[in-house]
Amino acid sequence: MTLPSRWPAILQAVMKGQPRALADSHYPQWHPAPVTGLMNDPNGFIWFAGRYHLFYQWNPLDCEHRFKCWGHWSSADLVHWRHEPLALMPDEAYDRNGCYSGSAVDNQGVLTLCYTGNVKFDDGSRTAWQCLAVEQPDGTFTKLGPVLALPEGYTGHVRDPKVWQHDGEWYMVLGAQDVQKRGKVLLFKSADLHAWTSCGEIAGHGVNGLTDAGYMWECPDLFALDGTHVLICCPQGLAREPHRYLNTYPATWMSGEFDYASAAFDHGELHELDAGFEFYAPQTALAEDGRRILIGWMGVPDGEEMLQPTRAHGWMHQMTCPRELRYRDGRLWQTPARELTALREDEQRWQGHASDAPDLDATRLEFELGASHVNVDFGGALRLTLDEQGIRLERASLKTGETLTRYWQGDVRHLRVLCDRSSVEIFINHGEGVMSSRYFPDHPARMRFEGASDITLRYWSLRACMIE
Ligand code: FRU
Repeated sequence: MTLPSRWPAILQAVMKGQPRALADSHYPQWHPAPVTGLMNDPNGFIWFAGRYHLFYQWNPLDCEHRFKCWGHWSSADLVHWRHEPLALMPDEAYDRNGCYSGSAVDNQGVLTLCYTGNVKFDDGSRTAWQCLAVEQPDGTFTKLGPVLALPEGYTGHVRDPKVWQHDGEWYMVLGAQDVQKRGKVLLFKSADLHAWTSCGEIAGHGVNGLTDAGYMWECPDLFALDGTHVLICCPQGLAREPHRYLNTYPATWMSGEFDYASAAFDHGELHELDAGFEFYAPQTALAEDGRRILIGWMGVPDGEEMLQPTRAHGWMHQMTCPRELRYRDGRLWQTPARELTALREDEQRWQGHASDAPDLDATRLEFELGASHVNVDFGGALRLTLDEQGIRLERASLKTGETLTRYWQGDVRHLRVLCDRSSVEIFINHGEGVMSSRYFPDHPARMRFEGASDITLRYWSLRACMIE
């Protein structure tokens, strides 16, 4: 399909879809979400020339995983977002089956996208090209074509370039699968973004003694944070554990010493980045003031995705809220970006037996909860239980109706919860753990606290802040 023939169809779909999605009672009021079609990974997240830019994997034409374009939003403050022109469409031979995920860099003042051109062949095989595109003065992007072909020893699953600059050199991590079907993270280096040389494998099966690391690692992101280096990535095929890695596709982090001279990453064990039902493919950006900000995709392509009710309204999935990352005491801490407090309306406080607490309207709500034992019912569609084991989050399977459970285990002293119509993000102990989940309650969704123990509550309704 060529560019001119696809433009009208895409624009038409956007215009038709917008009122439908916005009229859906589950459409988020302050999280970025697609106005039509299916959105997945955050891409190209960057602070550039005074604004944050957040691109996203987007099929604007329908709610299936195909026709992957890059949509584009920008924001001055991580709270108010605006639509920018569609950035990339899969209209070249080298990206015809999808402009897959990637990142953005500031190359001497030019906003430059690094993405994967996905190409499938009739025999079921595929290849991947790492490609560049540069921004034009009108906000559209011009493709420069592929700069890196499939490296030898890997299948066609090599993708999701995250590029950054260090000491005048460019570096790129890529998610990969080797020919023995084992997941890896590859590192490449370049002086000019065009000619790349391999620096080898820095994580995955066989690196740092890791075995049973799954069959493919997606969306790597390597960065310095608070005196260490953190690698975030999404290994597929990890063994499920009783309380961890319960989603088909988990997101993980590991930390350690990254040595640029030898290109070696001496890292510790894998940890789950988020213990909820929906969290995948996160990407980070450096804020102007040096904070490391993360945004993830609150959607997981597992067996239930296509049963989500928003599909009938022509849109699917949303981003998480932006989160600040810190590394302390051997842990990665995540807290909602401080800018989000601008959404808060009047503060209210309450203290007493949980069962006497007022019902809250969970539509757009933030609350802080101090409790040792409590149940929280989020409008009948999601239920949180807090006890001495930690937190259990339960909801019914959209497929079978059976109760599904996710766990965060540990001593819980404090919860901060952000709700937005069909999502909750639960920050445990000021960022020690996070559970992110979608849920689809009837609105207005009354949130009820249950139990005989004392709780303290501080809560705010949140302002609607739609993408403009
Ligand atoms: C992660 C992912 C990436 C790929 C993109 C395609 O969700 O599978 O690896 O680039 O989605 O949309």
